[in-house]
Amino acid sequence: MVPEGWFVALAHRYPEVGERVVASVFRPPDYHVGMEPAPRQHPGSSPPTPAATDAFDGLAGVPDRFGRALRDLRISVTDRCNFRCPYCMPAEVFGRDFAFLPHDQVLSFEEITRLATLFLRLGVTKLRITGGEPLVRRDLPVLIGRLAALRTPQGSPVDLTLTTNGSALRALAGPLASAGLQRITVSLDSLDDAVFGSMNGVDFPVSRVLDGIGAARSAGLSPIKVNTVVRRGMNESSILPLVRWAREAGLILRFIEYMDVGHSNGWRLDDVVPADEIIAIIDAELPLEPMEANYRGEVAGRYRFRDGTGEVGVIASVSRPFCADCTRARLSAEGHLYTCLFAMSGVDLKTPLRAGESDEELEARIRSVWAARVDRYSELRSAATRDLPKVEMFALGG
Ligand code: GTP
Ligand code: 5AD
Ligand code: SF4
Ligand code: SF4
Repeated sequence: MVPEGWFVALAHRYPEVGERVVASVFRPPDYHVGMEPAPRQHPGSSPPTPAATDAFDGLAGVPDRFGRALRDLRISVTDRCNFRCPYCMPAEVFGRDFAFLPHDQVLSFEEITRLATLFLRLGVTKLRITGGEPLVRRDLPVLIGRLAALRTPQGSPVDLTLTTNGSALRALAGPLASAGLQRITVSLDSLDDAVFGSMNGVDFPVSRVLDGIGAARSAGLSPIKVNTVVRRGMNESSILPLVRWAREAGLILRFIEYMDVGHSNGWRLDDVVPADEIIAIIDAELPLEPMEANYRGEVAGRYRFRDGTGEVGVIASVSRPFCADCTRARLSAEGHLYTCLFAMSGVDLKTPLRAGESDEELEARIRSVWAARVDRYSELRSAATRDLPKVEMFALGG
């Protein structure tokens, strides 16, 4: 299945990234050895006895085929965005004529809340609102209020957060916090207007995102994380200025390796700046040391500044795949369930929901999808997988 010859060629051409990718493909972690995908349970049939995921994290839940618990639900509230980042929604592909979802095909707040409740029953403890750009969804604080009121079966509040490009945060940070949002993650690829303008595709100015971050801080959202996609030849020179700024401002900055999500961004391996290189750039000026993960399955590798003034992270899906502990499901704005960021298809929950299925039937449907899950795309990434017709990131929820 994996085109081995390609990886050998890759290792020669790209010794820095290639060897690590080769290593991850040829020395797969033990957790999947000998496992075969389970046959999918017939949707709508009665749920099996709940299996604990003790071996994963000691909490109750539903294990997938590799024992990974379902803990995070990323909920996309829209497939629309006011930016055109070339690594996500290139303007030449997603122009004025592009047909985004018609409004009646987008889940309502009631539908989202009902599905979120069912996911909590199955072990989810974190809800992350995404898009597209989630703040373009009208009345978003109303949804936040409803989700903030949910409780896990054990009676705990959920970890409720949101990923945004920050463009509308100045106006919305206060209402979102008042509605019950606890923390937030803002994407920002450079502090330089020329670089940021070309990375957001619409010349959106840095100052307005900084205003939004300021508003988030004033509203009491905490922690505030900042995500920076690094693309070779575009924004490596922005790494150190961002680190200095975030450290000073007390923000948790994470650098994301450019990924082959979707099938429109023309991803090439040599556009990736590997995490080791990013860390080396920072460490040369501000010495770093690795830190423990906050929780099993955290995507960011954490590093603290040796002088004790904060932390920085790397999200290294290409050079250090983290599928072994992946606990994330995605619910698209259209109401489809995806079990991997790189999926080619999802499972339609909206149709049975709108057809009047009961909570029990819908829960069984979700459970059976997760129980049959075998995704580990980043560990299998190759020349062949790059060109697969994967669903776009903005459509399935980043
Ligand atoms: P917290 O630890 O809860 O703060 O969140 P997070 O770091 O998991 O969430 P965030 O949305 O900030 O994730 C950062 C980025 O990591 C995303 O925007 C994606 O680019 C990437 N990412 C998140 N989840 C996955 C995943 O499951 N697979 C891959 N390959 N990348 C992911
Ligand atoms: N590679 C890496 N990160 C990406 N994002 C969007 N597309 C890509 C990609 N191709 C990031 C955004 C944002 C988050 C939602 O996902 O920059 O931080
Ligand atoms: Fe919009 Fe985020 Fe995609 Fe950029 S990465 S185009 S801000 S959804
Ligand atoms: Fe999870 Fe898929 Fe990302 Fe691997 S590639 S960490 S399975 S979403």
